Amino acid sequence: MKTYRIAVIPGDGIGKEVVPAAIEVLNKAAQLDGSFQFEWTTFPWGCDYYLETGKMMPDNGIEILKGYDQIFLGAVGMPDLVPDHISLWGLLIKIRREMKQSINVRPAKLLQGLPSPLRNPNGFDFVVVRENSEGEYAESGGRIHSGQDEVAIQNAIFTRKGTERAMRYAFEMAKNRRQHVTSATKSNGITYSMPFWDEVFAQVGKDYEDIGQVSNHIDALAAFLVMKPENFDVIVASNLFGDILTDLGGAIMGSIGIAPAANLNIERQYPSMFEPVHGSAPDIAGQGIANPLGQIWTGKMMLDFLGYHEVGTKVLNAMEVTLAQGIKTGDLGGKATLRDVTDAVLHHLQ
Ligand code: NAD
Ligand code: IPM
Ligand code: MN
Repeated sequence: MKTYRIAVIPGDGIGKEVVPAAIEVLNKAAQLDGSFQFEWTTFPWGCDYYLETGKMMPDNGIEILKGYDQIFLGAVGMPDLVPDHISLWGLLIKIRREMKQSINVRPAKLLQGLPSPLRNPNGFDFVVVRENSEGEYAESGGRIHSGQDEVAIQNAIFTRKGTERAMRYAFEMAKNRRQHVTSATKSNGITYSMPFWDEVFAQVGKDYEDIGQVSNHIDALAAFLVMKPENFDVIVASNLFGDILTDLGGAIMGSIGIAPAANLNIERQYPSMFEPVHGSAPDIAGQGIANPLGQIWTGKMMLDFLGYHEVGTKVLNAMEVTLAQGIKTGDLGGKATLRDVTDAVLHHLQ
């Protein structure tokens, strides 16, 4: 039997609650498939670890993680205890970068049994391909002068390789979907990066003449996703635009608590990292009421990445049956606990 060794980083806040729930579901999925199993190793890295040691993970943390097949992460951040730029850059973003997880895949679709807050949701089903390693998140810039004259400079860095990689990935994905790619741009207002982004999109698009291709400015695109989300198939976006669009994607599905994500090292040279779109939700942490579906769906993305599509589809079906039965956590307007939802998904997974 094939065994996958998975490094588990529950992280902070509700990450510590939703990750064990999703692991129960993934173990059941593996059992159901029968041809593979998971071996989980949990690392207690995060803000508590930082408060004890002064580090978000040990110095050799990346080396340790390289010894695993994939990484399953909850969420990072306890902003009242550790500043976000320390916690996120010391763990989540560090892993994304060092493992060259340059593509972040974030689907959003209307699930059966889950009413969208939109008036006319019309069965939308789109995927945001988020460039995950550069763009507006570049570690480039600084602060100069002081007092009233102080200036903060943040450079956004878009390399041809990184931009092309994201676009090619989006076009390839569209081939197996509804053959349409929308590029999120802002070349009317941002003078260097976005005209470059458009140029690369047009160039890469020439290799995919059969795929529909459109550019939308990010502001209009945000509005379209609310007014007519069914028009979108694959959306390719820069790091920051993709970040924003995918919380929006979660919201129009019903809650950011169900939105899944996969940080992919598409070369499969290093482990990829599966972590949901949402954060550590300190406002509801420790109460057993967080929605585990985002983490469970994220687990389904890991199953897909490993090639177990059939059982992955069963996980999504079990989620939908659970929702259709009205077993929903508070973020979806229900009264169920994390335990109730997890038990229902486990029950329907067969
Ligand atoms: P958040 O996603 O943690 O929470 C936003 C809102 O959504 C909150 O009201 C929260 O209760 C709710 N929510 C989120 N996930 C939920 C779930 N599964 N079930 C029910 N409700 C849920 O965003 P935030 O408040 O901006 O950030 C909190 C911390 O998490 C910060 O430190 C932030 O930097 C960090 N963060 C981490 C990640 C990550 O590790 N991947 C992602 C986003 C934010
Ligand atoms: C996400 C998060 C992170 C990001 C933060 C916590 C740095 O919002 O994964 O969506 O912006 O990438
Ligand atoms: Mn985000």
